[in-house]
Amino acid sequence: MATIYITRKIPDIGISMLKEKGFELDISPKDRPLTKRELLKALKKKPYDGVLCLLTDTINGEVFDAVPSAKMFANYAVGFNNITIEEAKKRGVTITNTPGVLTEAVAEHTLALLFAVVKRVVEGDTFLRKGKYKGWGPELFLGEELQGKTLGILGAGRIGGRVAEVASKGLGMNVIYYDIKQSPEFEQSSSATFRATLEEVLKEADIVSVHVPLLPSTTHLINAERLRQMKKTAYLLNTSRGPVIDEDALVVALKTGVIRGAGLDVFEHEPKLSKGLAKLQNVVMTPHTASATKSARDGMAKLAAENLIAFFEGKVPPNKVS
Ligand code: GLV
Ligand code: GLV
Repeated sequence: MATIYITRKIPDIGISMLKEKGFELDISPKDRPLTKRELLKALKKKPYDGVLCLLTDTINGEVFDAVPSAKMFANYAVGFNNITIEEAKKRGVTITNTPGVLTEAVAEHTLALLFAVVKRVVEGDTFLRKGKYKGWGPELFLGEELQGKTLGILGAGRIGGRVAEVASKGLGMNVIYYDIKQSPEFEQSSSATFRATLEEVLKEADIVSVHVPLLPSTTHLINAERLRQMKKTAYLLNTSRGPVIDEDALVVALKTGVIRGAGLDVFEHEPKLSKGLAKLQNVVMTPHTASATKSARDGMAKLAAENLIAFFEGKVPPNKVS
């Protein structure tokens, strides 16, 4: 069977599936992303047939050329902006991702950030731990209610769809959305209404939640000008990819009251935070853990293994993206 390089340990279920099928596996022993040099060096060690890579690995022409024997790269993520698809195509390398299994985890996490920021959960927690709580007060940490508010979804894929559905059915929010194409399916599950432009969503929404893939066309989709189009009372959520938001512009907007708050799981220069972001009280942040549930991460490991198995059995992998 095929020999696979795995750039960082993934949950056992995926490893076992591959071993059972007789795959030979080399797994990076480091519990962190490999540097570019380390990755190239590791891949040059053997004529690997395939690679299981993570969203933290930049996979470009140089990487493909380091291991020309590898005709299959299985990405352990739904987003695959870390891979230069054009370079894969040129070399006839198959690329797969892990969609679907993390939809619920990411959608719920998006709502966790929403609740945390509008109910000021983290601010309140910090206040208590610092010993500042001197007793109940009628206006202590006033927050917001979500019922009847308008949620604007940017990107009507699976995750955006699930966030919209829970917000609409569970919280009684009105949902509006923008995508490059209208989605009847999305509209049905959340009674959402389409807006023909991004600007309309930004102007009308009390909460804007970003669920687009990172592409050249979505890089800095939310910039200073677009932040100014939002309501001053609005909140921005991002569980997609950091560079979709101009983070420096967001820091200014949060600091100067252009918008009221934000909930972020992803960052433009991850793992670094833009200057000033960590000082702000009106932002709640998590370290790219939206899909970090046992169920989702096991599901991703299973899917990545299934894709590799299918490919090396001569079949079309179920989640082929290129
Ligand atoms: C997580 O960010 C993913 O794309 O799977
Ligand atoms: C990803 O799973 C999406 O389509 O939102």
